[in-house]
Amino acid sequence: MAGEILFFKGTKSRVIFLAFCLVGTCLLAEAEVHNLTWEVSYQYKSLDCYKKLAIAINGETPGPTINATEGDIIIVNVKNNLLMENLAIHWHGIRQIGTPWSDGTDGVSQCGTMPGDTFVYQFVVDKAGTYMYHSHYGMQRESGLYGLIKVAVPSGTEEPFTYYREHGVVLSDWYHSSSYEQATGLTSIPYVWIGEPQSLLINGRGKYDCANLDASVCNATSPECAPASFTVVPGETYRFRIASLTSLSALSFQIEGHNMTVVEADGNYVEPFATENLYIYAGETYSVLVTANQSSSSNYWITTNVVGREPSTPIGQAILNYYPNHNHKPPTTTPPPGPLWNDTDARKKQSLAIEARQGYNQIPPHPDKVIVLLNTQNKVDGYTKWAINNVSHTLPETPYLIALKKNWLDVFDQTPAPESYDYENYDIYSVQNNTNATTSSSIYRLEFNSTVDVILQNANTMTANNSETHPWHLHGHDFWVLGFGDGKYDMKNNDANYKFKNPIMKNTVPLHPYGWTALRFQANNPGIWLFHCHIEAHFLLGMLVLFESGSSMVSVPPQANMGCGKTKSLMQP
Ligand code: C2O
Ligand code: CU
Repeated sequence: MAGEILFFKGTKSRVIFLAFCLVGTCLLAEAEVHNLTWEVSYQYKSLDCYKKLAIAINGETPGPTINATEGDIIIVNVKNNLLMENLAIHWHGIRQIGTPWSDGTDGVSQCGTMPGDTFVYQFVVDKAGTYMYHSHYGMQRESGLYGLIKVAVPSGTEEPFTYYREHGVVLSDWYHSSSYEQATGLTSIPYVWIGEPQSLLINGRGKYDCANLDASVCNATSPECAPASFTVVPGETYRFRIASLTSLSALSFQIEGHNMTVVEADGNYVEPFATENLYIYAGETYSVLVTANQSSSSNYWITTNVVGREPSTPIGQAILNYYPNHNHKPPTTTPPPGPLWNDTDARKKQSLAIEARQGYNQIPPHPDKVIVLLNTQNKVDGYTKWAINNVSHTLPETPYLIALKKNWLDVFDQTPAPESYDYENYDIYSVQNNTNATTSSSIYRLEFNSTVDVILQNANTMTANNSETHPWHLHGHDFWVLGFGDGKYDMKNNDANYKFKNPIMKNTVPLHPYGWTALRFQANNPGIWLFHCHIEAHFLLGMLVLFESGSSMVSVPPQANMGCGKTKSLMQP
């Protein structure tokens, strides 16, 4: 059995000794147990001054930040008080080594938790860094079910940079329509696109223009929509841990008058580089260092703006508060609008600037196989879909991990998922017919411990002269980011195109318009893991694949993960 907590006490925040075993090697360490109880419910919120239903954890959205130290055990008792819908929470960036049943993915690792039920997630935060959690049930995330996970280095260890204090920043986009309305439109004929978000939120606070709306609907003076404020002491350096939980938007984040130094990405150290603005895609986290080195007589704007799509959403705003100014004193300047939305070259340039920090780089092994994934928008039976190598994915009713463990072959399509596309003939620059596009629940089966290269290949959508940015996220592993390029990836000279001397490891990476992104990972975590576009609408429309490896080594499925599809037959009275 791979990975098992041998002895273990669930007492709240008590220091215990535990043995954590990974395929034969056991580590003895002192770890803290964080035993959290979360009640998830709908609440009326005015996050951008406009009143609408949001999903909150213990009354808050974003939910509580999980603050832990590397090696700690996190136990989250999640009670579903949503009344009328199921729930699953994913711990994004936490690899769940040995705990695949806690990955929190509806249809993959578990059945959604029913209203009134409690699901207990239990896992180890085994690597310092900045992570996040969010709903992984349909498009539920965009209703506000998300938050930050901060994992500190263990005592006696130092980060390769210093700072005085830290701030957490959760970026999100906000719609006034419900996720039900959106999901219904996306899966109907005619297709109804969700449009651009009404607001951008920084730590759950935004500003919609309430003009001409009744104060009972939109109240510009509601304290809930006062901008977030981040206090700094002049002269000191701060770490900002930034996570993007947008459902659609790619963002730029900037602080008026201050440069930032990027030092961490998705829980891995970055060779530091300074920038005026940080491009951040849904599912990514970064740490930047910011020194309060400007005149302390005023506060400064922090802003975020949509890039990659023509925006109709106003910029999101927060305040950098120089102590001892009042923390809500608005700066007298105009908030910086951020870079142009269509400056794709600047975004690619920043992607290429992110390399592993010297001394923390891990050398990737040679690949055992290469899988090429063509990303397209398609029509299947009149429905608009997103597809990978012309297969738009549909999740089965029975979670994959249970089906694999039980060897239920009738639960999902056993045809191997396609490992390539017709790259000689496919024109990525024009609208293609893709008449053979289909839907399927097929998976990629990878040899356990093998090393796999994945080439993401972008193409034109069903609209002429349009190619979108897709942030791809892998569950259960970090991958090396080997390179980015324009146009069609050259299968014959592949390694020559890999860009990096010191590839960084990440869990989420953008695929830029009309370009390719190459990554490599080791299939060394027994289970079945999602790899998908982190845009909610694209995920819903099938932009996902599954990588299985070593699933026979996984422990027996807990009862709590069951209750749907074929797993009903396993339920004990
Ligand atoms: Cu952050 Cu599968 O997701
Ligand atoms: Cu996408």
